[in-house]
Amino acid sequence: MTEHRPVTLITGASAGIGTALARIFARQGKELLLVARREQRLNELADEIAAFGHRRPHVEPVDLERRDAGDAIAGAMVRLGVEPETVVNNAGFGLLGSSASLSRAEQLAMVDVNVRALTDLSLAFVEALARRRGGILNVASVAAFLPGPHMAVYYATKAYVVSFSDALHWELKPRGIRVTALCPGPVPTEFQARAGFDSGGKPDMLTLGADQVALDGYRALEQGRRLVVPGMLNRATTIMTRFVPRRLLMAAVGRYNSSRIAKRQRD
Ligand SMILES: NC(=O)c1ccc[n+]([C@@H]2O[C@H](COP(=O)([O-])OP(=O)(O)OC[C@H]3O[C@@H](n4cnc5c(N)ncnc54)[C@H](OP(=O)(O)O)[C@@H]3O)[C@@H](O)[C@H]2O)c1
Repeated sequence: MTEHRPVTLITGASAGIGTALARIFARQGKELLLVARREQRLNELADEIAAFGHRRPHVEPVDLERRDAGDAIAGAMVRLGVEPETVVNNAGFGLLGSSASLSRAEQLAMVDVNVRALTDLSLAFVEALARRRGGILNVASVAAFLPGPHMAVYYATKAYVVSFSDALHWELKPRGIRVTALCPGPVPTEFQARAGFDSGGKPDMLTLGADQVALDGYRALEQGRRLVVPGMLNRATTIMTRFVPRRLLMAAVGRYNSSRIAKRQRD
């Protein structure tokens, strides 16, 4: 049998938290396979990592909305002679607005990226991950713990990511595979512009930088933790959701997201 080299697969590496995760894994001496749609951005990051004396990451432009995205990534690995020791499902996006008024096609595309592709890539490489005693880092959100009026599909996709990752953590532990859900609160990245709101100007107490969030995710995966919520106040928020009635949480999130929509209309 041909020996494949171990690789860290990172989706959504062309921006934000994914770029920060790529830098961290590269610093640990890992060979990387970077995936996103914007090839030029991925190549710029690969050049930057190589300039620091690390092995230049492989770059694979893939649109994760496509049903054959997982096959395209698996094909690239065969071509490169690598197999995953770590899968980082970071790519994702949200959309601000009421579900009935947002484009149905765009909301379904969100399900394809945030849920379908993440599920496919979590399951596609289990044999290799077991052989390598590797891990899966799935990027969810604090939104996973909340009902999400005016970002309904996004919050629901992230609730799926936590639920699915929890169960995978339990199922795959006996096979030596670590599974961690990373649940960031607000992080200033391109996420806000794509979702259709600004990041609110100055950072508030819940806001952390992408580098810190990525580091917390990396460490939690290394430690085999099931879930990590970076930032004390974000952790407090997720704990508080267990005690506050759901209808009150819904009203609070609904009002908050409505105010973002109103601000967008004013600007
Ligand atoms: N920023 C926050 O406040 C925040 C909070 C909680 C959770 N998160 C989660 O963190 C993760 C990373 O978000 P971020 O904040 O770093 O956002 P970002 O800066 O917008 O980066 C998103 C990444 O996902 C990739 N992506 C989006 N659609 C894709 C598609 N169809 N195919 C392939 N790649 C795609 C983008 O690459 P291309 O555009 O090049 O394809 C980009 O690399 C997401 O799952 C997000 O839900 C973010």
